[in-house]
Amino acid sequence: MKVFHDIQTLRVFLDDIRREGKNIGFVPTMGYLHEGHLSLIEASVKENDITVLSIYINPTQFGPDEDLDHYPRDIENDKKLAVDAGANVIFIPDHHIMYKNNHVTYVQVNGLTHQLCGQSRPTHFQGVTTIVSKLFNIVQPNRAYFGQKDAQQAIVIKRMVMDLNMPITIVVCPIMREADGLAMSSRNTYLNPEERQQATVLYEALQKAKALIDSGERSSKTVKAMMTKLIHTKPSATIDYVSIVGADTLEDIEILEDNILVALAVKIGKTRLIDNLQMEVL
Ligand code: PAJ
Repeated sequence: MKVFHDIQTLRVFLDDIRREGKNIGFVPTMGYLHEGHLSLIEASVKENDITVLSIYINPTQFGPDEDLDHYPRDIENDKKLAVDAGANVIFIPDHHIMYKNNHVTYVQVNGLTHQLCGQSRPTHFQGVTTIVSKLFNIVQPNRAYFGQKDAQQAIVIKRMVMDLNMPITIVVCPIMREADGLAMSSRNTYLNPEERQQATVLYEALQKAKALIDSGERSSKTVKAMMTKLIHTKPSATIDYVSIVGADTLEDIEILEDNILVALAVKIGKTRLIDNLQMEVL
């Protein structure tokens, strides 16, 4: 496996790969890899000749009071896990490489970024679309892999690629979970044992929502009220949002039909966790 820290040498290497007619799969991450990340690498390995992983904790997608400085990192372990999963190349740039002092250009996807996570993280998606655009321009992959765990992020990236005519196929992979249902996340490491137990309420709320909808409930308000009540039984939980939106538009819906996204963000203690469930309602 090859590790690159600067853009130019990575470009030269990948140009040769392309000249050989090989396909490039790309998995952008912020590191501290877990099975969710590894499932993206494995999906890429199956579908491409070369898999490039990036590890970069992107400052522009963190708000001023968020966890940028404390975000967990373990590059040596990440390298081991990435090799075992089959990654061929890791790009680990430094901040001064990705954002020069005079960086003033940002990519903004309007319409899909003000709701859900965008409400409490107003600058987050602009940071994500900007760094992902930069990484796409550097790696120029044929396919790029994202997790359904960050459902809104995947939808926003797909729209950006479509609107800006980027010649990249976006592949969205399923949410990987712990045995008790908690969606895997680098941020789960912040939870103390008691909070870790209470954190299962996100998945529980989604499962109960699915059961209610499967049993015929079609009122968004009723389903959200049930979820909210359940989450409030956990003393460490503070709801950021519990939403049911159209899976394409991300706009709130009142009557549940077609392709819907049940999404929630809940703080367990100080740790903000997200999870979601996409389903087709007939
Ligand atoms: P990060 O949180 O490290 O996640 C990297 C990728 O892994 C994302 O596409 C995310 O959706 C996926 N992922 C995380 N947890 C997952 C899980 N439990 N199951 C499946 N996939 C999972 O998302 C980011 O980084 C950043 O915003 C990034 C796209 C790298 C831009 O900075």
